[in-house]
Amino acid sequence: MTQADFEFIRSLAYENTGIVLPERKKHMVYSRLSRRLRQLKLTNFAQYCSYVSNTPDERMNFINALTTNLTAFFREEHHFSYLEQVIVPQWKKENKNRLRIWSSACSTGEEPYSIAMTLEKHFPSTKSDLKILATDLDTNVLQKAAAGTYSCDSVTNLPDRYTEKYVSHTPDNQHIQMRSNIQKMIHFKQLNLLEKWPMTGPFDIIFCRNVLIYFDNETKKKIIAKFRKMLSPHGYLFIGHSETLMNISEEFDLIGQTIYRPLGHGGQKLTKPKG
Ligand SMILES: C[S@@+](CC[C@H](N)C(=O)[O-])C[C@H]1O[C@@H](n2cnc3c(N)ncnc32)[C@H](O)[C@@H]1O
Repeated sequence: MTQADFEFIRSLAYENTGIVLPERKKHMVYSRLSRRLRQLKLTNFAQYCSYVSNTPDERMNFINALTTNLTAFFREEHHFSYLEQVIVPQWKKENKNRLRIWSSACSTGEEPYSIAMTLEKHFPSTKSDLKILATDLDTNVLQKAAAGTYSCDSVTNLPDRYTEKYVSHTPDNQHIQMRSNIQKMIHFKQLNLLEKWPMTGPFDIIFCRNVLIYFDNETKKKIIAKFRKMLSPHGYLFIGHSETLMNISEEFDLIGQTIYRPLGHGGQKLTKPKG
């Protein structure tokens, strides 16, 4: 892969996904796209660059190859404890029964399934209107997410209280399958955070975890400003452990570990106490 190939690839990736590929990621790009070159029986990256620019259908394979999809059930567990121990009691107190949650970079689905398992017993479908929208740019991971089948090795941190209730084992005992009552709570859809969002909101919680890190500040600012508009004034925004809204947005209060609420939690600016 020549420097010119890499420059072409990184600008195409940035244009289509917002993902910034610095020089140090050259090796990663090489190994992820090499697989695609082999499948297409192309012998060098120059050929692939010309193929991807002339073949609109290749664009999605290109994007899918470059996204990083690392995730896990109950990743950054403190968000789920906060949800169950602080937010749920608040919603219960307010008799809130219509709930809308968005997992905005859901990868292979572990994040929205963790949200669903946390909330199901508090808001069973017979008594509440709870919907989880789960979106990602990558079409391959969305397929896996919608299937809801995972290898047993990848679910070791799934607490027993959840596996007993929400998961069944496949006959070969090598995989687990999310049960239909949990699957029904989630709608998986493809959505590029950079493009127009078809939904109107408002959401009570938006999860946007471990994706902002791939974007530059300009992209982060645009996306966070759009999240603010999509979020209920009393809602919550959860971001990833290495992410921050500092220097990105002044429209949110940090109220816990990587947990934000709209300023004043009702859309008003917080006033400093006098004296
Ligand atoms: C590292 S995973 C994070 C998964 C999950 N949120 C978590 O924290 O475990 C990042 C995900 O962001 C998605 N992604 C990258 N760029 C995106 C974009 N422009 N729009 C939507 N999703 C994007 C990738 O496809 C990938 O699945």
